[in-house]
Amino acid sequence: MSDKSDQQSKWNLRYASGASGALPRPAEVLSENRHLLPKTGTVLDLACGLGGNALLLAQRGLQTHAWDISNVAIERLNDLAASQGLLLDAEVRDVVRCPPSPNRFDVIVVSRFLHRPLVPDIIRALSASGLVFYQTFIEDKPADVGPGNPEYLLSENELLQLFSALRILLYREEGRVGDIAQGFRYEAMLVAQNRA
Ligand SMILES: C[S@@+](CC[C@H](N)C(=O)[O-])C[C@H]1O[C@@H](n2cnc3c(N)ncnc32)[C@H](O)[C@@H]1O
Repeated sequence: MSDKSDQQSKWNLRYASGASGALPRPAEVLSENRHLLPKTGTVLDLACGLGGNALLLAQRGLQTHAWDISNVAIERLNDLAASQGLLLDAEVRDVVRCPPSPNRFDVIVVSRFLHRPLVPDIIRALSASGLVFYQTFIEDKPADVGPGNPEYLLSENELLQLFSALRILLYREEGRVGDIAQGFRYEAMLVAQNRA
């Protein structure tokens, strides 16, 4: 992986040149499975970008943290949260260098970010019965959407393997099976719970 300043510059450039009008949306793994969220707790949107997940979590009254290496993204998220009257703690942080500490979060959401060596830290960072919501792109996607670099693409069933120490509540990965005009085709999603 390239060093921090490379990653930060790359993502800052993307966020600075992207359209700023559209509201960031939560990933499907969270929006479609929000009924699994606890009523209270401390939660993290890891590599949050513009914070679509963090905003949903904060709207639900959860004590929300959002971390990303891009200061441009974090500034936008802070502005957006303030404009919606939402409380959240958004922080510029390189999660590879500074992963979450053990037993810190009741929920961790990760969408469209993959750094495999971080997975054990994510698992350790869950409280007893804590939940992870994970969604990112797969190798078997039917069209050129999302990253092309295989380092950032999940192989078949890989999320299941990465989080096999946890209780799997939900897994979805469809790839190119059947009618690719329908369904959830480009990514895999998983919700899993730490065994108390
Ligand atoms: C494809 S975006 C996804 C953003 C958001 N989670 C979403 O689903 O829209 C990947 C994000 O990872 C962030 N990122 C990349 N490397 C990082 C690192 N080492 N630490 C923290 N964030 C990082 C980027 O700044 C970018 O916001």
